Amino acid sequence: MNGVAAIEARGLTKDFSFGLRGVNIRAVDQLSLRIEVGQIFGLLGPNGSGKSTTIKMALGLLESTQGSCRIFGVPSCEVRARCQVGYLPESPHFHRFLSGRELVAFYGRLCGLRGEELRRRVDEVIAGVGLEAAAGRRVGTYSRGMLQRIGVAQAIVHDPRLVILDEPMAGIDPVGVAEITALIQQLKARGKTIVLVAHELTQVEALCDRIAILDRGRLVVERDLGAEFTALEVSQLSAEHVAELQAWLEARGGVLTTRRVVRSRLEEFFSPRIPATRETPSP
Ligand SMILES: Nc1ncnc2c1ncn2[C@@H]1O[C@H](COP(=O)(O)OP(=O)(O)OP(=O)(O)O)[C@@H](O)[C@H]1O
Ligand SMILES: [Mg+2]
Repeated sequence: MNGVAAIEARGLTKDFSFGLRGVNIRAVDQLSLRIEVGQIFGLLGPNGSGKSTTIKMALGLLESTQGSCRIFGVPSCEVRARCQVGYLPESPHFHRFLSGRELVAFYGRLCGLRGEELRRRVDEVIAGVGLEAAAGRRVGTYSRGMLQRIGVAQAIVHDPRLVILDEPMAGIDPVGVAEITALIQQLKARGKTIVLVAHELTQVEALCDRIAILDRGRLVVERDLGAEFTALEVSQLSAEHVAELQAWLEARGGVLTTRRVVRSRLEEFFSPRIPATRETPSP
């Protein structure tokens, strides 16, 4: 790819040592990634696979054992690399005695916003995360999902070019997930780059342009999503005919990506002919 990447990590590695015997854990192992400007990028993997550690190193908040990272071309160890970034850490700790509005304004001021612009942005982002009604309440009284929402609001208050959200959907109800999904899509529409860290694949797969999957600190999969494909459901074919169908498809360049035997669903008895347009997106 040409041009400067939003994030370019090369060989990032992190060893933690702890305990009296100095036990060593390699949390991230030789990770190289390039996240293009304007993408929604999903960093996925099971618990403990190294996602949060990767983000902290990428942001220069944690020193890497080896490797380096650049944000919009600036080495992430330099403070100016972080000016263009909004970050929601996992399990954030906020000042409990500030109201939601004061908290977001506090982060806005830290990022240089003042006066009318600060007030406008604070109102905008609080509305964007659906917290208007609770914005005057102390953050210490917020539920877990409300804390996540205010965390997303503080991450975007200064309108950064790159937004990194570590588990933004954690603890959020389905309506909240839909609201945050819409907010992320709006950010993308405005040209922002978004990195979503998650282990719940279903919440992010519809959003991401590209994903990377980590396992025990290593990059195991990196691929684009959203490429078009056709899904066929076939019933009442013998195993032999299914094998013939697969061979026919492969001879024509088709790739059979999923093959599983499913139990009949009752709805098929009521509507045996599923319309071909069922999953075709509207134009
Ligand atoms: N400060 C630390 N000291 C020692 N080990 C750590 C530290 N932070 C992370 N680790 C270890 O590094 C590994 C990766 O942790 P990390 O938090 O990056 O995983 P994760 O993919 O974000 O997991 P989760 O989905 O649970 O948030 C884990 O084995 C974890 O125990
Ligand atoms: Mg994590």
